[in-house]
Formats: sequence, C-alpha cells, structure tokens
Amino acid sequence: MILVTGGAGFIGSNFVLDWLAASDEPVLNLDKLTYAGNLANLAALQGDARHRFVQGDIGDRALLERLLAEHRPRAIVNFAAESHVDRSIHGPEDFIQTNVLGTFRLLEAARHYWSALPATEKEAFRFLHVSTDEVYGTLAPQDPAFAEDHKVEPNSPYSASKAASDHLVRAWHHTYGLPVLTTNCSNNYGPYHFPEKLIPLMIVNALAGKPLPVYGDGMQVRDWLYVKDHCSAIRRVLAAGRPGETYNVGGWNEKPNIDIVRTVCALLDELRPRADGQPYAQQITYVKDRPGHDRRYAIDARKIERELGWKPQETFETGIRKTVRWYLDHPDWVAQVQSGAYRDWVATHYGAAVTSP
Ligand code: NAD
Ligand code: DAU
Repeated sequence: MILVTGGAGFIGSNFVLDWLAASDEPVLNLDKLTYAGNLANLAALQGDARHRFVQGDIGDRALLERLLAEHRPRAIVNFAAESHVDRSIHGPEDFIQTNVLGTFRLLEAARHYWSALPATEKEAFRFLHVSTDEVYGTLAPQDPAFAEDHKVEPNSPYSASKAASDHLVRAWHHTYGLPVLTTNCSNNYGPYHFPEKLIPLMIVNALAGKPLPVYGDGMQVRDWLYVKDHCSAIRRVLAAGRPGETYNVGGWNEKPNIDIVRTVCALLDELRPRADGQPYAQQITYVKDRPGHDRRYAIDARKIERELGWKPQETFETGIRKTVRWYLDHPDWVAQVQSGAYRDWVATHYGAAVTSP
C-alpha cells in the first residue's frame, strides 16, 4: 500500500480517486482536515476497503510511527500543506508548522521506518514530496521558464515554507540516503478546487452575482495544468523517477490572470447565461494587489518528458471547459463548501470509517 498525506485536499483527493481507479493497491490517507480538507471529495470511496482514512497531523511523530509500523507502506506521497498564498500573508505560522516542521517530522518518521526495512523493501521504498513552481520566485517577461536547476528564490511566506521543505527533503537524501523524489508543479485547476483560489472563486462568484476580484492590473502570468495531468505526472515519477531527483511539472500554458477570468466568464456565458442576458465579464472588478505578488511563473517541463515520457493530456481549452462544467454539475458540493457544511461530512457520512488518533 501507499501512504498519501493531505489526500482530502484538492490535488490529494484527485490523486487518491485516480490512483484507485487505475490500480487496486490500497491507500492509507492521512489528513488533518483543516478548512481545506473535505472528505466529501472522496464520497465515491465510501465502503471501499482499499481506502483507509485517518484524521491526523503530519507533525504528529507518534501517530506517524504507529501508522508506518502497522501498515508498512512501500511509498509515501506528501501532499499535506497549507497551500494558499493570501492566507500565508495574513498568518504565516500555520505554514511554518505544517510545511516546514510537519515535513521534517514526516521525513524523520519515514527515515526510521525505511532504515529498518529488509533490503529489497528498503531498495524499493520512495518518499515523494509534492512541491510548487513558486519556490523559484518570479520571472521577467522574456526570461526562460524555470528548469530544475533554477535558483530557489521564494517571495511569499507560503513559497518560503515550501522551499524550506524541499531543502529538507533534499538533505534527507544526501545525508541519510532516503530515496526521495520531488515534483515542482505549476498552478493546478479542476474538480474539487477550493473556491479561495482564482478559477473556482471566479466560477462561484460569477454564478452568485458577486464581483470577480482581479488583483492589481491582472497581468500576472501563471502556467496552468489540469489536476488529472498533475496526478498522472506524480504516478509516473513515483514509478520511474530517479531517487534524489527533482522533476518540474507544467502545462506549457502560460496565461495572464485577466485572460483566465475572461475565459471563465465566456464559458459561463455559453453554458449558464445570466438571467439578464448580460455578460459575466461585467462583474470583473480590479482590486488592490497581493503584497509581494510574483509577476510571472513558467515551467520548463522537458526533463520529465525526456526522462519519464510524461506530458499533459489536456489543453487549457479542454481542461477549463471540463472544470466549468464540473462546477455547474456539482451545486451541492459548492453549497456545502460555501456554507461550511462540508466540515460535518466526517461525522454524518463517513462515521466509523474515519480513525482519529
Ligand atoms: P489543499 O490546501 O487543497 O489541500 C491540503 C490538504 O492538506 C488538506 O486536505 C488539508 O487538510 C491537509 N493538511 C494541511 N495541514 C496538514 C497537516 N499538518 N497534516 C495532515 N494534513 C494536513 O492543497 P492542494 O492545492 O491540494 O495542494 C497539495 C500540495 O500540492 C501542496 O503541498 C501544495 O503546496 C502543492 N501544490 C499545489 C498546487 C496548486 O496549484 N494547488 C501546485 C503545485 C503544488
Ligand atoms: O504555482 C503553484 C501555486 O499555485 C501553488 O503552489 C499554490 O498552492 C496555489 O494556491 C497556487 O498559487 P497562486 O497564488 O498562483 O494561486 P491563486 O489561485 O491564489 O492565484 C492565482 C493568481 O490569481 C495569482 O496571480 C493571484 C491572482 N488572484 C487570485 C485570487 C484568489 C486574483 O487576481 N484574484 C483572486 O481573487
């Protein structure tokens, strides 16, 4: 089996669902269920013995040791993190606790577990750390995209905490020989994306008749990757990546934020026109910029393509259409997230299947 941390979040839940759709290898899912964790994302796995959920913290060393000893995973995939840049600006403490200290504790528990494994299991074991392109800092318009050897220059409390965790992962390989893999990916979008992030926020605000807040001049550039493509990249790196290596993952799809927002508006105009017949773009409102806002990210994903044969399957056009449709087709999920009712999901729907430490 594999241990997935943060598997009730946006990317983690997509990963767990895709993993169990593609294989019968069980998943032990360890998630603290912060505001970003939503077990309703995993509703399709209710009663599925291949999925075992444990509510807990990656910073809880005793819990980790118990879980590793009991379940003996062949790999750990670490998604657990505080992930929202704006929250990191307002309150960085949780980011240091989970992203830095939590990763450290997880690495230490993994190292002790791994070092006591029999030779063949030890050889096969992998610790895959899921990280971000934001660790590389910001690019000028004509700069080449981030390659794996780009200098690390994080600018936000979030990206600094992720960079710190990447450094720890690297050090645990060089010093202790732990067989680690790191992926640094660009902006994901798709189903189960929490509506504090740009694309889902624009969809739910547009439908609710609310303003669509665009930071600054809206000309900040991000590279966008459909979440299922990120999940397939992680599966590929886990299967064939070289221990100690870092792989950048991206969609070859750089776009200014305002273009993303206008695309979402145009799709909604087509799929769910406003009652008054006016375009959703009327709701766009320019607001104060994010402090320290990185101007441009771009990912050079040639290494993972060359070495592991991975490349994205979705274009932005196909991925964003699927995404907007998903939100239109899942009003209950959106309503539960907006009302906070999703936080009751554990008690009301999952019941005894959830193990608390
Ligand atoms: P998310 O915020 O949606 O989910 C994070 C999950 O981790 C939640 O379920 C939360 O409950 C859990 N969690 C938080 N602290 C925990 C702790 N101490 N112990 C156990 N679980 C904890 O985040 P996401 O967007 O799914 O991102 C997942 C990972 O991918 C993160 O490491 C993030 O840095 C990285 N990443 C995200 C993106 C993106 O565009 N969203 C891009 C590149 C990399
Ligand atoms: O690049 C990968 C990163 O992408 C991940 O590591 C992070 O976990 C993930 O949250 C994401 O970070 P961003 O800051 O790029 O994502 P966010 O959706 O918050 O913002 C995307 C862009 O849109 C960014 O330039 C800020 C802008 N924005 C965002 C919001 C929420 C707006 O203009 N208005 C908004 O309301």
